[in-house]
Amino acid sequence: MRLNRFERFLVNQPLRPWSQRWLEARPWRGLGAQLAGARVLELGCGQGEGQRILRRDFGASQVVGCDLDGRQLQRAQRRCQQDAALSWVQADAQELPFVADSFDAVVSFNALHHVPDWERALAEAQRVLRPGGQLVLLETLRGFLEAPPMRQLMEHPRQGRFDAGQLRRAVLEAGFHLRGSRRIPGCFLWLVAALEG
Ligand SMILES: C[S@@+](CC[C@H](N)C(=O)[O-])C[C@H]1O[C@@H](n2cnc3c(N)ncnc32)[C@H](O)[C@@H]1O
Repeated sequence: MRLNRFERFLVNQPLRPWSQRWLEARPWRGLGAQLAGARVLELGCGQGEGQRILRRDFGASQVVGCDLDGRQLQRAQRRCQQDAALSWVQADAQELPFVADSFDAVVSFNALHHVPDWERALAEAQRVLRPGGQLVLLETLRGFLEAPPMRQLMEHPRQGRFDAGQLRRAVLEAGFHLRGSRRIPGCFLWLVAALEG
C-alpha cells in the first residue's frame, strides 16, 4: 500500500536520514547482520536513504531498491544517482521480478507492514535469496499501528498488522533460522535471520 500524505512527509523529512542511520539501522550490527560485499535487495526502499546506509555503513557491494511507489523511486534516483552501485526497480514485494538465488541479503526498513500479504513477501524474499542468504528486518508492530493517533494519521492494510511473535514465527516458517532479534515491546522489532548455507 502506498503512503498517505502524512507518512510520505514523515519518511522524507530532513531529520529522517539521521534517525534511519543512527536509530533504525544500528541495532542490526549486534544481531549478526553481515553485509560486507553483499548484493542486497531492499524492499520498500522509499527515498533511497536505506540503500546509502547499507553501502556506507554495512559495506554492501550493490543495493537494488524496490518500491511500489514510482514517485518515491524517482526521489531515490535523484538523491542517490552518484553511486553507481545503487539501482531501482518498481515492483511489488509480493511478486518480485527476480529469479531464484539473485541476492545475498534482503533488507527492509519498515516496509513489510504496508504489504497486505506480508507472509507472501517473506516467501518471495526466501525465493530470491541464495542458500545462506540473510533476511534483515526492522518492522513496526501492531501495538504501534493500532494506537489511536497512529490510526488517525496513517493508513496501513489491516492484514499487514502483526506482533513480534507472529513475525518471528512467519520468518521461521518461510525457512529461515533466527540469528537474533530485539524489540521495543508493542512497537518495533529488529530481526536478522538466514537460510541454511
Ligand atoms: C514506511 S515506508 C518506508 C520507506 C523506507 N524504507 C524508509 O525507511 O524510509 C514503506 C515503503 O514501502 C513501500 N511499499 C508499500 N507496499 C509495498 C509493496 N507491496 N511492495 C514494495 N514496496 C511497498 C511504500 O511505497 C514505502 O516507500
